[in-house]
Amino acid sequence: MKKPKSTLLFLFIALFLWLNTGITFSSGRPGRNFIDSLLQTMTIDEKIGQLIQIDFSAVGKEKAIEYILKYNVGSFLNVWTPEEIKLLQETALKQTRTGVPLIFGLDVIHGYRTIFPIPLAESCSWNPKLVEKSARIAAIEASAHGIHWTFAPMVDIARDARWGRIAEGAGEDTYLGCVMAEARVRGFQGNDLSNPTTIVACPKHYVAYGACEGGKDYNTVDISPATLYQVYLPPFAAAINAGALTVMSAFNEINGIPASANEYTLREILKKRWGFKGFVVSDYNAVAELVIHGFVPDKQNAALKAITAGVDMEMMGFSYLKNLKMLTESGKLPVAIVDSTVKRILYVKYELGLFKNPIYGSEKRRKNETLKSEFINHARTIARESIVLLKNKNKLLPLDESSFPVALIGPLAASKKDLLGSWSCAGKPEDVISILEALETRIGGKNILYAKGCEIERWSEKDLKKALRVARKAKTIILVLGETREMSGEGGSRAYIGLTESQLRLTKAITRLKKPVVVVLVNGRPLAIPWIAQNIPAIIESWQLGIQHGPAVVDVLFGDCNPSGKLTVSFPKATGQEPLYYNHKMTGRPPIKPGNRFESKYIDLQPGPLFPFGYGLSYSKFIYSELKIYPKVLRPTDTLLVTVKITNDSDIPGKEIVQLYIRDVSASLTRPVKELKDFKKVYIRPHEHKIVTFRLPVSTCGFYNSKMEWKVEPGKFKLWVGPSSAEGLTGEFEIK
Ligand code: GLC
Repeated sequence: MKKPKSTLLFLFIALFLWLNTGITFSSGRPGRNFIDSLLQTMTIDEKIGQLIQIDFSAVGKEKAIEYILKYNVGSFLNVWTPEEIKLLQETALKQTRTGVPLIFGLDVIHGYRTIFPIPLAESCSWNPKLVEKSARIAAIEASAHGIHWTFAPMVDIARDARWGRIAEGAGEDTYLGCVMAEARVRGFQGNDLSNPTTIVACPKHYVAYGACEGGKDYNTVDISPATLYQVYLPPFAAAINAGALTVMSAFNEINGIPASANEYTLREILKKRWGFKGFVVSDYNAVAELVIHGFVPDKQNAALKAITAGVDMEMMGFSYLKNLKMLTESGKLPVAIVDSTVKRILYVKYELGLFKNPIYGSEKRRKNETLKSEFINHARTIARESIVLLKNKNKLLPLDESSFPVALIGPLAASKKDLLGSWSCAGKPEDVISILEALETRIGGKNILYAKGCEIERWSEKDLKKALRVARKAKTIILVLGETREMSGEGGSRAYIGLTESQLRLTKAITRLKKPVVVVLVNGRPLAIPWIAQNIPAIIESWQLGIQHGPAVVDVLFGDCNPSGKLTVSFPKATGQEPLYYNHKMTGRPPIKPGNRFESKYIDLQPGPLFPFGYGLSYSKFIYSELKIYPKVLRPTDTLLVTVKITNDSDIPGKEIVQLYIRDVSASLTRPVKELKDFKKVYIRPHEHKIVTFRLPVSTCGFYNSKMEWKVEPGKFKLWVGPSSAEGLTGEFEIK
């Protein structure tokens, strides 16, 4: 039947709009119809190809093209140039029968080329808006270079500072971890994933990777179901609630079943209970490693267990590539499982808009949207807010002209690469402004004397003599100490997390000059620094802040920025305290009576952290008063109203992170001594005050009980509002 002209015109306009305006039917019926009909056209080989991710940097261009032509692989990671991305994508689109677009993934963890502070540092800003903006900028730069997908945010809760990957997350607290997970997913994905300036997020490593025994990377995880639900799962739930459409399964086992073949966590919780519609990618070679775990006898069973458990895409390892077809032909693997797996991947590609716009970025975007001045400005802003002032005895800081000449000493004082931190993606050391360079810009070369003093791991009399010569001529000494970027991050677990011997020797020698010394720490984890804490009057924790590390530190040193960061990880007095976290259990014998042997403590160390979770000083002086809690007795459906007065009793305007903690005093499962439930970052002008208000729904005072159900149990609760997890105004309330 001949269609009237008006219908054809309508169809033409609709097609034109659809192809050119980015309007997509995100996940509605048309999207599902599109995916279903595409799937029906695919052979088993083409379907399996979609489940394969290849590391381009491991196989090279020729082999990559061969994989596309032979196996229709679905994804590549580590393709570093837009030209190579374009070549691979056009090969997939034009030289394969189905023409299904590839999805390109990369570890855009804390910036693509504009490198921001490591995620642990950013979390110390307690500023989700700023953290979201970092992720937004990272997505803009990465997508401009052709990247569709980032293997971030890393949302693993980390309670053991020996674990090098503590650098990549948001610290030890679950609530803060959820806040930061949501912020980063929002930043990466924006509010329209088909917009080519957004990239799909991938919360990782699912799940409980941070609970690796001994803080040793990839090590065994053996935790109770309650701890799994209460501590490690929530940040993933938060990331998925924020719209994350991929998840990465972890290397570690969980109570005997590897995370990358764990049907309970992957299918039961993630896909069924949480309704996750995206796809799961394994961590690198994690499926093949099921054999090494001793969970399966061979790679064929590894592939079968993993895909059956819910791992949709295999990152390298080739277990899927070499075994899935034969598993379907033998009937061991129902084709229906392959189909449902492929649909998840096609769904994410569809939501990303890849069927309409498979090649992100352009030369123009790369030129205009890389290292823009507004990106660099943001890098300095977030770096400043990530800095934590740990000590400032007799107000040695901020410095001024009376502090000149300044001796800048230390193995990290002039470093650039170490300030980028681990996982610095396309970041370049030459983009970094070192602390030395920033200091020269701020106070002029004539007011600075510089010496390296020692290497991180090596000591020499010559280096020391030079440093002492320089220090003797100075009025004030700034020591920059800590870790190289290789000393944390993946595979960066340390058995001893103090300063290295050479740095301690340098510090003690310099301190003997009896001059004012400021220590600036550059590190990717909490450090056990009792001697520094005891003997150095001013200590700044600057982490690894990315390209604007130097300027941000100098801004704080000279008071152009009033530090406001607070620790999201506990600092230990000794490595032997790890794992160390504020929200620990009370035990039946808490350390309350000094001298009493029979308490939960060490005989050779005072209890408690060196610096607690939530701790950070300011150049202002904030006073907490007038805590009010209303009502005092509540029903499960009520909301608790908490107000507190914060006064800035100083001449310096500043920001304070006001924290609210509770404790469920008695419950069917023992509860932590404290749990962070909310926080507010407030700016207060000199000699002014603010009334900070919290509204705490009673429903948030619950926990996962022995049946893994979220329950609010009646009983007494304690409440604190304070500047850290170690102090604050206290109150009580009761839930009937
Ligand atoms: C690594 C890491 C993971 C990363 C992946 C791809 O081994 O565990 O975090 O995203 O491989 O580089």
